[in-house]
Amino acid sequence: MTSSEQPRVQWLGRWGFILAATGSAVGLGNIWKFPYMTGEYGGGAFVLVYLACILAVGVPVMMCEIAFGRRGRGSPIDAFRRMAKESGRSPLWSILGWMSMLSGFMILSFYVIVAGWSFAYLWKVVSGGLTGANVGDMVAIFEANNANPWNLGGWSTMVTLVTMVIVGMGVQKGIERSVGWMMPGLVVMLVILIVYNVFSGGFGEAVSFLFSFNAGSLSSAGMLAALGHAFFTLSLAAGAILTYGSYLPRSASIGRTTLSVALADTAVALMAGLAIFPVIFSNGMDPGEGPGLIFMSLPLAFQAMPLGTLFGVLFFVMLSMAALTSSISMVEATVSWLCDSKGFSRRWAAWSSGIVLWFISTLAMLSFSADWAVLGKTLFDWLDYLTSRLLMPLGGLGTVVLAGFFIRNEVMRDELALPPLIYALWLIMVRYVSPLGILIVFVDALGLYSI
Ligand code: PFF
Ligand code: NA
Repeated sequence: MTSSEQPRVQWLGRWGFILAATGSAVGLGNIWKFPYMTGEYGGGAFVLVYLACILAVGVPVMMCEIAFGRRGRGSPIDAFRRMAKESGRSPLWSILGWMSMLSGFMILSFYVIVAGWSFAYLWKVVSGGLTGANVGDMVAIFEANNANPWNLGGWSTMVTLVTMVIVGMGVQKGIERSVGWMMPGLVVMLVILIVYNVFSGGFGEAVSFLFSFNAGSLSSAGMLAALGHAFFTLSLAAGAILTYGSYLPRSASIGRTTLSVALADTAVALMAGLAIFPVIFSNGMDPGEGPGLIFMSLPLAFQAMPLGTLFGVLFFVMLSMAALTSSISMVEATVSWLCDSKGFSRRWAAWSSGIVLWFISTLAMLSFSADWAVLGKTLFDWLDYLTSRLLMPLGGLGTVVLAGFFIRNEVMRDELALPPLIYALWLIMVRYVSPLGILIVFVDALGLYSI
């Protein structure tokens, strides 16, 4: 039996993949990154370009990735190679798999630090460390949290450990079940915050900040940021969705699955915007504050609202869980590659990736904490920048070009099993709309790379 004939483990329930993929997609990207980037790039125009990128690039790419994973039955490297081979193409296409695994690894190296913030703030709320703090204190508390590498590194090390323990235990157990209650819980928390905001001011201002789509033109840097964020938030071109797709049974509909994941992810991001910006505006804070935005603003709301401490605790528990269901998906590609192709046991694959990851993330943590910058960015910033603005859009471009022009048509048609009209639409998207969209944003942003 060759490895490609081996039956592969599959998700347990009918909802298994949707739950796991939603767990991967919905995370810090929605609640931490989307609001702060929207703030930095000025609001409505960024949101509009981001939404356009989700539809025109994210959805078609996600369909390709799930199809490649399911048909290629393996880690990104193996899946890309097998897909190319099946259509008589060069094995060099597996470079796309290598790129995506690299992206997943690089993202995780800074993601565990941000997840560590979430745990640190959970602890602060529980232990009363935020009580009575005003706007100015919030900024100081965030800065103090980061200035101490033992604190910062302690929390991110804990996140790394927990991630590796979960991944080491296997794919089905735990993941599917926890997402089933954690995701609704997160949505409930956001709704509570939004309702509170409606009554406490800043809501109208936030709505017009987020949705006044004609809010002037967006810079090239902002367009590239929006495109990169569409990949990041949907967990694309980073190995996660493709690897999860490799556990998907033949009977599932890729089109419907993709739409539900993309919808859930977008809804949570927009809700996070409505939960956070009213607090920013009503407290006179700067929307362009940067990566600390939610940690400096949301505690103010939790302080002022009835049952605030309880809600604060619940919120940071949910956020930490959402971060974990994303972080486990980022190592899954590497772990499944080490297991399938390198003969590692699952547990050993998880631990060895964890050790490498820990070293990179510790360097990123130190660079962030001490503000060591190279060309104006810390290692933390570089890991984020290079993945979102370069590796992932390029990987996505390669994926749609491969699917649209190089894979035999019957293969994709058979795998996607879409109604003919929808299939034709998908083909137009992967052949023309997505690649041109990515290229235009790249060319427009070319100046940014010449530092
Ligand atoms: N989509 C996740 C989020 O929005 O938080 C982040 C992410 C997960 C990126 C998995 C990449 C990945 F492979
Ligand atoms: Na997301």
